[in-house]
Amino acid sequence: MNPSVGVTARRDAYAKCRAEARAVLEDEHDPIACMASLASMLFRAVPRVSFVGFYRVVERELLVVGPYQGPLACLRIPFSRGVCGAAAREGRVLIVPDVHAFPGHIACDGGARSELVLPVRNGRGDLMGVLDLDSHEPAAFDELDAEELSTLLSETFERF
Ligand code: SME
Repeated sequence: MNPSVGVTARRDAYAKCRAEARAVLEDEHDPIACMASLASMLFRAVPRVSFVGFYRVVERELLVVGPYQGPLACLRIPFSRGVCGAAAREGRVLIVPDVHAFPGHIACDGGARSELVLPVRNGRGDLMGVLDLDSHEPAAFDELDAEELSTLLSETFERF
């Protein structure tokens, strides 16, 4: 989310997203339905975002695209490639202020300048996939986005 927007406004926007996710997904036990709903909510809620979507772990060390909003995305990403692959391989959040400076970045959308990727884990701590956010602006995401989105993801996917 745009770091130039006030911290309180940004926290409030994420709190609204979490409340909406809790209300909409309370009884939902299909992970794809949850991913699709979060992609829609976040695409509307996060300023300057050009793409929001999930990549799912479908076999050993391979991510396959899941629900997303934005331009057409790459279908398959091995753990060895790109920001998404690195986040899955290392099991950690990656904030990339300049994608051109990230070795192996995959340019699904040539206009993307910055990116945030978060691991998605179920209640047992198994890696289900990653959440990827892209922006056409440099340095569009920071620690606040990472922290708030990590909370949203764990609240949503701990049921699986
Ligand atoms: N840029 C990502 C690939 C996914 S697309 O941006 C939708 C990466 O380097 O992993």
